Amino acid sequence: MMPNRDAADAGLDVIDSSSVIICCGSGGVGKTTTAAVLGLEAARRGRRAVVVTIDPARRLADALGLPDGLASTPQRIDVDHISGPVSGELSAMMLDTAATFDGLVKRHADNQDQVERILNNAFYRNIAGALSGTQEYMAAETLHELHGDDRFDLVVVDTPPSRNALDFLEAPGVLARFLDHRLFRLLMLPTRGGLKVIGTATQPLLKAIGKVVGSEVLADSVAFFQAFAGMEAGFRERADEVVALIRAPETSFVVVASPRHDTIGEAVWFGEQLVEQGVGVTSAIVNRAHPAFGEGSAAEALVSADEARERADDVLSALWANVAELRTMHEAELEVIAPLREIAGKDRLALLPLLDRDIHDLDGLWTIAGHLFAQNNDH
Ligand SMILES: Nc1ncnc2c1ncn2[C@@H]1O[C@H](COP(=O)(O)OP(=O)(O)O)[C@@H](O)[C@H]1O
Ligand SMILES: [Mg+2]
Repeated sequence: MMPNRDAADAGLDVIDSSSVIICCGSGGVGKTTTAAVLGLEAARRGRRAVVVTIDPARRLADALGLPDGLASTPQRIDVDHISGPVSGELSAMMLDTAATFDGLVKRHADNQDQVERILNNAFYRNIAGALSGTQEYMAAETLHELHGDDRFDLVVVDTPPSRNALDFLEAPGVLARFLDHRLFRLLMLPTRGGLKVIGTATQPLLKAIGKVVGSEVLADSVAFFQAFAGMEAGFRERADEVVALIRAPETSFVVVASPRHDTIGEAVWFGEQLVEQGVGVTSAIVNRAHPAFGEGSAAEALVSADEARERADDVLSALWANVAELRTMHEAELEVIAPLREIAGKDRLALLPLLDRDIHDLDGLWTIAGHLFAQNNDH
């Protein structure tokens, strides 16, 4: 069957209208691949898409024709020699959490001296990578930056493999809250002797922070907070902008899962949180699914197998038995998938088959796009 690329596409037509697409789901389900495929399809349709991936995804870099791997700034992907015409543009990059954080510091600092004091601070270098939610925050920050970049009109983000969709939604607030922390306030309170002596009241807080960053850098935290003085407002404002963009109507959420109880369970949970947050699931994709095998049910195929056997047509009977087996798997998967279909909405779920070969070039991604955008969802 020739893929019909204009077929109803399970809510994925948002690639024409959205300016941000956020792919969520548990690790290993094909989230990074899906993000790349959505970017490629958007480019085929004439958009200027940039895909941001979180993991180094060597195979994706290969598939995109980037032998040196993905860079931390957008690189144009050469889409000239794939099987079909692409009227738009595709770029890809990998999230660099630390560099993004440094960029934020540079943007909000008053002067070069403040930048250097912060960037060279051991406490900062620890929280830049270790503070819970930092990766999510920097992914959101990167998305905000690319959204404002004239070179692109669609940003597709592959989220960190977090168990909690809210980590991504709420991460921008985490640092702001951190800066609101009582410890920060206490440390910044001017006293006669300069910096306030840390009293017993702050001990539990110090222990808590020590757990995150290691107590050996705790002393550096004082210097960090001093260096950070005056930047909180800028940071907080920026975090508010990022949150607003994530929740904007032009931002879509695509939940990716595989046809297994555990990943569907996680996807449903992501979906519930998104609904609770008032953003909702734009589209759900179940990757590595067994496709429907012709019209009809497994039971019908078994009847045909019996009929063929009665006519002593063993070859045909064996074929029908095979069809019955494939349909049984498909039907079982549909049952597993049902809760996700429920939360996404009937017409917003797409099945993506497991390809019989690895995706090692753009044509592999193109093939996946062909499957995804030729979906007939009348299961
Ligand atoms: N439908 C599919 N058919 C064949 N291989 C796939 C399919 N989806 C993903 N893969 C392969 O599985 C591996 C993991 O996919 P990836 O997108 O990196 O997962 P995730 O980002 O969710 O961890 C990759 O090597 C990718 O090429
Ligand atoms: Mg991935």
